[in-house]
Parts: sequence; C-alpha cells; structure tokens
Amino acid sequence: MTCFQINGGAALDGDVKCQGSKNASLPMLAACILTKDETALYNAPALTDVEAALDILRYLGAKVKREDGALIVDAAGIGKNDVPDALMREMRSSVIFLGPLLARTGRAVLSAPGGCEIGLRPIDLHLEAVSRLGAVVKNEGGKIVCTAPKGLAGAEIPLSFPSVGATENAMLAAVLAKGETRILNAAREPEIADLAALLNAMGAHIRGAGESTICIDGVNTLAGAVHTVLPDRIWGATLLTAGAITKGRVCVKGLSPAHLVPVLDVLERAGCEIRRGKNEITVSAPRRLHSVRTVRTTPYPGFPTDAQPPVTALLSTARGVSVIMETVFESRFRYVGELTRFGASIRTDGGFAVVEGVPRLYGAEVSAPDLRGGAALTLAALCAEGESTVREARHIDRGYEDLAASLRALGADVRRCRAESATAI
Ligand code: UD1
Repeated sequence: MTCFQINGGAALDGDVKCQGSKNASLPMLAACILTKDETALYNAPALTDVEAALDILRYLGAKVKREDGALIVDAAGIGKNDVPDALMREMRSSVIFLGPLLARTGRAVLSAPGGCEIGLRPIDLHLEAVSRLGAVVKNEGGKIVCTAPKGLAGAEIPLSFPSVGATENAMLAAVLAKGETRILNAAREPEIADLAALLNAMGAHIRGAGESTICIDGVNTLAGAVHTVLPDRIWGATLLTAGAITKGRVCVKGLSPAHLVPVLDVLERAGCEIRRGKNEITVSAPRRLHSVRTVRTTPYPGFPTDAQPPVTALLSTARGVSVIMETVFESRFRYVGELTRFGASIRTDGGFAVVEGVPRLYGAEVSAPDLRGGAALTLAALCAEGESTVREARHIDRGYEDLAASLRALGADVRRCRAESATAI
C-alpha cells in the first residue's frame, strides 16, 4: 500500500505549474474513437484514471502512444463495443464511452455501475440522453445494452440536473447524429467547453458549450485533431489551499483566475490575499485564518464539489465556525472522520458539516477514503504539528500527477512510502 509520510509545519513557498485537467482528458480520450484518424492530446496528465481510460481504448482496439509530450490515439481499429466490468470498476467515469461507442459502432454494452466512494453515481441521465437520440436501452442480466443500428438522430435533450458526464455523453453521441441536437440545462463547466473545442477541431459543429443550451449540428464523419488540454482548476485549488493552510505563499502558474472564482472568494473571505494574474494565481495566507459563514457546493459556476474537502480541511484551522453545504454528491464527507484524528472539530449531518476551527492540528495516521478526501487529509498533515501518515495514497494518484513531488517543490517535507515497510520509493 502506498502512503505519504509528512512532517508538518513548513510554510509552503514558491511557484508551481498547473497540471492538465483530469476531468477534461477523460471525455477527450473517449472522443478519440469518434474518428478513424489519429488524435493528439497535449498536456494530458499522467494519472491512474487516465491510464484506466487508455486501457479501455486498447481493449476496444485503439493504438495508444506517448510521443513528445502528447498522448496519441489511433482509433482506426476499433473492433469491440463493450467496456468490461473490471475496467468499469477501475473508473466510474468509464460510462463516458457510452456516447462515442454508440456513435461509432451503433452499440454500447456497459456493466451497471454500483456505488462509489462519494455517492451512488447513477447513470439515468446518460441513458435518457442517448435514448432521446434514438438508442434503445435494455438491461440484460446486469449489463446495460444500448443499440442504434440505424444510427442516432438529433433531438432535444432536457437534463433534469446539469450533470457534467451526461452533458458530455450527449455531446459525444450527438456530434455524429443526423440533424440538430439541443441539450437544455447543460452543465457549464470549463471542461465542457474544452471538449467542444476538441470536437470542433475534429470537424463537429457545436455552439454554446459552456452555456446552458448547447446546439449541435450532426456531421457524417470526424477527422483527427491536435488539442491541448486545459489546466486542472481543481489541482490549482488544492495547491492554493495547501499554501493557505500552511500560512505560506503559493503561485499557481498557467491557470486562469476566471475558472476558480468561488474558491478564490472563499480563500479571501478566510483572510488570504489573492493576486490574480492573467494566467496565474498567488495566495498569501495570514497568521491565522478566520471562518467563512457558509460554503455551498453547486454546479459551475458555483463552488466546485471537488474543492470542498481541501477547503473544509483549511477551515478546520480557522478562527470561528464555518458551515459547509454539499449539494452535488450525497456522501462527500467520508474523509471528515479521518480529519478529526488530527484534532479537527467537525460534525456532519447529511449534506452539512459544521466546522469549529481549532488553533492547531496534530500529526496523525489516517487513510484516504477517496481522491479529494485524500488531498484534504494531505493538506491537514502539512500544517499539523509532527509526523503524519496518509495511507491509501493510490486514491490521490487518480487525480494528482505526483502530489508529494509538487508539495516538496514548495518546501513541504513529504515522502512517498510503502506502508508495510515505510521505505521511501
Ligand atoms: C464530474 C467530475 C467530478 C465532479 C462532478 C461534479 C469527471 C470525470 N468527474 O463527475 O470530478 O465532482 O462532475 O462537478 O468529470 N447524477 C444522476 N444521474 C446521472 C448522472 C449524475 O443522478 O445520470 C447525479 C450524481 O449522482 C451526482 C450529481 O448528479 O449527485 C452530479 O454528477 P455529475 O455532474 O454527473 O458528475 P460526474 O460527471 O460523475
């Protein structure tokens, strides 16, 4: 088991370059099967979730290579249309292959996703979207079988919730459907606009991505393209929060402040000074942070649910009481029990967490329950007095290229170890 060993207390100080976005890379890798040409993605991060998407591409018959900093996918030889259960389990977001498989092969077979670490993650909206485009959806012995032997047809797709994944799946299916598609109440995350930029570079006709209504004129074929993945705003939010929780100064380069407005607002309300450059953000923390009244997660442009765990860790050290309202995922406070091992004082009730700031945290042995929860525990350990161990760091590797190395570059004392032997690797 991989873990992080952290000797807390160092104020982080320095500049870091933002990694490419995980959440943009995954649907883009799925988009690669919409063409028989090669697609090159620059700035795709080296993450276990990205590796899982590459495993699915290889299974389906695509060739994948890394060359000169680009991930290159040649999907000429796609010969399968199912995503095996083991690969689905490795990454819940594998459902993103549904739309592209249907568009490319007229059939997609997935296993029904079960629960995951942060909630049930149903896919009803994804299935509703493709059935509006004419796919027939059946549940055959635990497998979800979607078919559209005569191809998909453009349609109106009203989403009852602006789901990021369902919006992306609808786009990925509709680009090759006959006629016009309108996605209503679409998710507006920057990753959606970036996916549309790649698809349009491949020859798709998408307007309005990043807004609530997305219009797509279907085309007959798509060609290969070269695209640079946008920076990862959640990575940026995590590193800035790490700077703030350690009372340090961190500059994240390559990230637009416009993509992080509500997070920067909370950091400022907690007493941090934020400098917004054109393409960089600097946080400088006060000696003692103070509480913010409420933080409420909502779909973009609201406060991102993925930044909630790191920011909750931050507020656990602020003077006063803060209330966190999680409205996007139902079980996103599983890391809180672990956070209290550092001495944090937090009570949760359903979607609420009441955080009573304490003057200091103390080193502890904790276990990462999920990706962002693991990042939150790492941040707590950075500011805690003494030694901490964050076990199950594999969860963190799903979304951060090498978080320990990024933090070390800013002056933190973090080592990556194997838990059994506690030897550095
Ligand atoms: C994406 C992000 C994830 C982020 C989330 C919300 C990726 C790979 N992951 O996840 O990091 O936390 O957006 O910003 O991009 N829902 C349904 N039915 C559906 C689909 C979703 O009820 O068919 C519910 C979910 O259970 C959840 C909420 O909608 O409660 C939000 O989910 P969604 O926006 O779809 O998130 P993901 O695309 O899974």
